[in-house]
Amino acid sequence: MAGLLELKNAGFSAQNQEIIRNISWVYAEGKTTALVGPSGGGKSTVLKLSAGLLVPTQGEVNFRGKSISQMSRRENLEFRKEGAVVFQDSALWANQTIQQILELPLQVHFPEMSPRDRTARVREVLHTVGYRKETGIRPAMLSMGEQKLVAFARALMCRPGILFLDEWTESLDDRSARRLVELVRTHKLQGHTIIFVSHDLHIIQDLADYALVISGGELHTALTDSQIESDATIGRFLEQEVDT
Ligand SMILES: Nc1ncnc2c1ncn2[C@@H]1O[C@H](COP(=O)(O)OP(=O)(O)O)[C@@H](O)[C@H]1O
Ligand SMILES: [Mg+2]
Repeated sequence: MAGLLELKNAGFSAQNQEIIRNISWVYAEGKTTALVGPSGGGKSTVLKLSAGLLVPTQGEVNFRGKSISQMSRRENLEFRKEGAVVFQDSALWANQTIQQILELPLQVHFPEMSPRDRTARVREVLHTVGYRKETGIRPAMLSMGEQKLVAFARALMCRPGILFLDEWTESLDDRSARRLVELVRTHKLQGHTIIFVSHDLHIIQDLADYALVISGGELHTALTDSQIESDATIGRFLEQEVDT
């Protein structure tokens, strides 16, 4: 399948520190890629570079052949609409209600949508992710797991074709985690592109077509299907033995 999103010798430095070095990879359209490796290895930074939320300080990130940093405002908005992110820390606005947080992407990307349709869409997506609490409350009143469900719901609001998910089943109970895995599987079966960070062997084996081992800010290895299926191979990288 065609390349959708490409990291081309991408690097990222901040505060005089080189965090990501010279990573090249083409995410194929409709495929699922797991980013794995030790904590602090650079997975979240690679995910944010891929999602266009960080601008590479070396190399470039291309979406459908166009450098993200050279997109017009309109092209950038389209990319933002097509690719949705679930952050490792959920990153919900503290001073907004759940309802407001979920309506915001609809207001940005579908400004003609009526308040009534927005409310209906919020209710539908919350049902899909299995969120049961009221929507007039703020994130601080929710557990970390409930916040993850809301973050997931926010990502689904505009029916994205690309999902960027950072440690998306952390702090969830088994039932909620299973529900989200099934949701991601549905997206995968619909031909959507998924890029996710996880430490969970079963989830990686279940969903990923590729696994990129990110360690010390570099792409250490790219594993394909059969290597991911081998517990010994993928397990080694999940247990942080990546320097050898
Ligand atoms: N904006 C930043 N400024 C300085 N250091 C950063 C910044 N972002 C990330 N880092 C550092 O870069 C390394 C990789 O971080 P991260 O991508 O979050 O790793 P991972 O998700 O694999 O745990 C960490 O040591 C982190 O502290
Ligand atoms: Mg991280």
